[in-house]
Amino acid sequence: MIWYPYEQMKTMKPPYKVIDAKGIYLYTKDNKMIDSVSSWWSNIYGYKNEKLNEAIINQVNKFSHVMLGGLTHDPVEKLSNKLKEFLPGDLDYPFFSDSGSVSVEVALKMALQFYMNKGEENRTMVLALNHAYHGDTFKTMEVGDDEDYHFVLEAYGKSKYVVHIPTEIPALEKAFEEYGDKLNSFIVEPLLQGAGGMRMYDISFLERARELCDEYKVLLIFDEVATGFGRTGNRFVADLVLPDIICLGKALTGGYIGHAATVANKKVFDAFYDDEPTHALMHGPTFMGNPLACAVSLRAIEIFEEENFMDKIKRIEEIEKEEMEGFSHPKIEEVRVMGGCVCIELKDGKDIEGFQEFAYERGVFARPFLKYIYSMVPYVIKEDELRKVMRTMKEWFENK
Ligand SMILES: Cc1ncc(COP(=O)(O)O)c(C=O)c1O
Repeated sequence: MIWYPYEQMKTMKPPYKVIDAKGIYLYTKDNKMIDSVSSWWSNIYGYKNEKLNEAIINQVNKFSHVMLGGLTHDPVEKLSNKLKEFLPGDLDYPFFSDSGSVSVEVALKMALQFYMNKGEENRTMVLALNHAYHGDTFKTMEVGDDEDYHFVLEAYGKSKYVVHIPTEIPALEKAFEEYGDKLNSFIVEPLLQGAGGMRMYDISFLERARELCDEYKVLLIFDEVATGFGRTGNRFVADLVLPDIICLGKALTGGYIGHAATVANKKVFDAFYDDEPTHALMHGPTFMGNPLACAVSLRAIEIFEEENFMDKIKRIEEIEKEEMEGFSHPKIEEVRVMGGCVCIELKDGKDIEGFQEFAYERGVFARPFLKYIYSMVPYVIKEDELRKVMRTMKEWFENK
C-alpha cells in the first residue's frame, strides 16, 4: 500500500489518478482539470513543456546521473554559472541537494559551522518565525513552527536552540537584544509564509532584519524554496533585501524533478575555504547536482528570462487582485493576494470540507488545507483559465 503524504491512511479519500498532464491541465480517466496549485507550487512552466522535455531528453541520452564526489560535468557547471549570473549580489556559491528540506538543512549546518570555523562555538541558536515551515526533516521541523504538521516534536520538549518570533519589528529587535550573541542565523520564508497559512508580511521587517543581522553578525537565511522564481511578484525577495544564504527548490527545475540548491555568498564560502581539512562542509547527498535536474533547471531559467516570466506573474497578480477586490463572506476571515498566491482564510476549518470535490466537478484541481483555500497557479495560465480558478474559489461561498 502506498503511504500518502499528510493523510490518515485509514480514512483518506482515494486520490485522483492522473493519466496525462499538459500545459496547466491534469487529466484523469474522466476529467480534465486546471492544476491550481502547480504540483505543490513547483510547476510554473506547464506540464510537457517542449523546451524542458527536450533539455531533459538530451541529457538522458548522454547520462542520467553520476556522483558529484570526485566527478563533475557540464550540466552542473553550467547551472552553477547561470545561478551566479541570475541571483542577486554575491550569492555565487551553490551547494546542490535533492529537496527543499535538505537545502534548508544544509543552510542551517553551514551557518553553525561558519561560526565553528571561526572559533565561535557558542553561536548555536537560530532565530525563526512563528508559523514557519521549512520542510519535514528533523532540523527543519525544529526551526518550523506548526503544531499541525510537526506535533511529533513535542516528544522532545521545547528546543533550547531555536527561538520563534512574530513578523513584528519590536519582537525582532527584542530577540536580537536578548540572543544576538548566541545566534548563528535568522531563517525566514521571506514576505510569504506558505504552509503555515499563506501569511504575508511587509518588506520593512526584512530590511530591519538585515540591519540587525549586520549589527550582531548573524547570518540571514532566506528560504525561497516556495517564494523564489516570481511567486511573490518579485523574481526573488533577495532582489529587495540581500541574504547571506538563499535556499532554492520547487520551481528551480520547473517542477520536473526533485532538486534544490543552497547558495551562499562569498563571506560564508570564505569561512570554509582554507588549508584546514576540518573546515570543509561535510555534506554530500547521493543525487546532488544530478545531471537531468541541472539540465532542466538551466533551461527553465533561460525560459524564465527569454519569455519574460516576470511580466506573466505581474499580469496574474493584477487579475487575481481584480477578481478578489472586495470579496468577503461571513465565513471568511481574510482574503490575501501576493504575486501568484491567493489565499482565502476561513474562520472555521470545517468550511473547507468538500471544496476539493466541488472544484474537481468544475475542472479545477485544488488542495485546501487546515482553514485555507488557496491557489498558486502555473505562470503559463491564460486569463480566462485564471478567472475560472478565481471564480471557483468564490462560488464555493454561494449558498453558504
Ligand atoms: C518554504 C519551504 N521550505 C522548504 C520546503 C520543503 O521542500 P521539499 O518538500 O522539497 O523538501 C517547502 C515545501 O513546501 C517550503 O514551502
